[in-house]
Amino acid sequence: MGVSIPFKDQPHTTSLTRKLLPYTVYALLPIAIFRLYFYPLPFPQPSTDQLPRSDRVILSASVPSSSSFSQEKIVNEAPCDYTNGKWVHDTVGPLYNGTTCGTIKDGQNCITHGRPDLGYLYWRWEPRRCKLPRFGPNTFLQLLSNKHLAFVGDSMARNQLESLLCMLATAATPNLVYRDGEDNKFRRWHFASHNITISVYWSPFLVRGVEKSKTGPDHNELFLNHVDERWGNDLNQIDMVVLSIGHWFLHPAVYYENDSVLGCHFCPGLNHTEIGFYGVLKKALKTALKSIIERKGTNGKWADVIVTTFSPSHFEGDWDKAGACPKTQPYKEGEKLLEGMDADLRNIEVEEVEAAKEIAKQFQGLRVEVLDVTKLSLMRPDGHPGPYMYPFPFANGLQERVQNDCVHWCLPGPVDTWNQILLEIMRRWRFQSWVEE
Ligand SMILES: *[C@@H]1O[C@H](CO)[C@@H](O)[C@H](O)[C@H]1NC(C)=O
Ligand SMILES: *[C@@H]1O[C@H](CO)[C@@H](O)[C@H](O)[C@H]1NC(C)=O
Ligand SMILES: *[C@@H]1O[C@H](CO)[C@@H](O)[C@H](O)[C@H]1NC(C)=O
Ligand SMILES: *[C@@H]1O[C@H](CO)[C@@H](O)[C@H](O)[C@H]1NC(C)=O
Repeated sequence: MGVSIPFKDQPHTTSLTRKLLPYTVYALLPIAIFRLYFYPLPFPQPSTDQLPRSDRVILSASVPSSSSFSQEKIVNEAPCDYTNGKWVHDTVGPLYNGTTCGTIKDGQNCITHGRPDLGYLYWRWEPRRCKLPRFGPNTFLQLLSNKHLAFVGDSMARNQLESLLCMLATAATPNLVYRDGEDNKFRRWHFASHNITISVYWSPFLVRGVEKSKTGPDHNELFLNHVDERWGNDLNQIDMVVLSIGHWFLHPAVYYENDSVLGCHFCPGLNHTEIGFYGVLKKALKTALKSIIERKGTNGKWADVIVTTFSPSHFEGDWDKAGACPKTQPYKEGEKLLEGMDADLRNIEVEEVEAAKEIAKQFQGLRVEVLDVTKLSLMRPDGHPGPYMYPFPFANGLQERVQNDCVHWCLPGPVDTWNQILLEIMRRWRFQSWVEE
């Protein structure tokens, strides 16, 4: 049976101002931040003897036994909606810190860079109608035994991968077995204890693309109906994929479909039609999901596919002025609405996951789910590195001009919660498949 997904190309807005607004925001950022944004700093070799082995952690993460845990309950209850809720104070704090995990990108290692307020570490996400258990590294390792999990996408995919590695490293040792590409864009670890492979693939559009931003605010090129084979070619050895994209779509670009120009986003002087980026994100995600489903499903292979939704940035002023993202506490429930571009990008991703779920139904063992982190991340303006993207930015006193990262997330930090939810999705899937067997 062929898989055909009709393209429903409905740009969310026809207002040119609206289309260009995100670009104008990013256009304020000079090349330095482009580099920060997309070309991560080199990271130190993971040093396995620094990895923590906390009994407390291992105990609290023990795999649920049937006596302490009702599997039936999980299967029969409606799945928890983790999307909406509130951040509540939590005295326990994160599983790891910036010194115990060797795989945090420098610019996100806020503790070791001297961020003085540590209150942002003591919050937990409370979904409206259910509980989100603390991350159990051993449970995660058990569920992923003998499998290969790949994170594919932009620097948010990397942010999420590094959070997961740090949490898992509290229970087992990851060995870096492969590394390639400028700034470690392609890496792979193996957990010998559970025969688990976890990898990260740099692919900010998911489809084939040419990244031009290195040379300045030049345009990118996207080929919307060709999956990026840098990861697509490896699908036969990947069992579970986490896709995470978004921010790169805001940049100036020319779009190709069937090898002719479809249009562009912010390309004055190039004589292409401005089509914004909403429809383009939709097509790129559709191509990626369709490729996974076709390649895995038609080969009779099983695969789990997760799409992490867009996570908003929190610039409140000039990116290079002190106080660009100054908040030190989460927003309270109802204080900040999900709206505008953040909501539009998130909605497109959710729609595409729903469409892919329908198609995946034709195949046994293909599961697709959304990891909806947009709202919970929006409510964490306190979770970004800000000036602590660099070590001790105020060592010589308070500067007026200081670069800020209000896009990525400190580790430990809010991204740990994304992986907590990821684990709950995996746990539910596992119980469902037990019941079906
Ligand atoms: C990080 O964790 C290690 C091991 O648990 C501990 O020895 C160290 O003091 C912690 N560092 C900070 C800054 O909390
Ligand atoms: C180890 O994991 C890989 C998947 O990453 C799998 O193909 C292989 O069969 C596993 N090895 C064993 C001994 O189970
Ligand atoms: C590209 O090709 C597909 C399939 O042949 C078709 O559905 C789509 O309309 C084409 N797009 C353009 C812009 O020609
Ligand atoms: C721009 O494109 C239109 C339509 O394809 C064409 O008629 C026109 O000559 C082009 N203008 C320039 C300056 O290339």
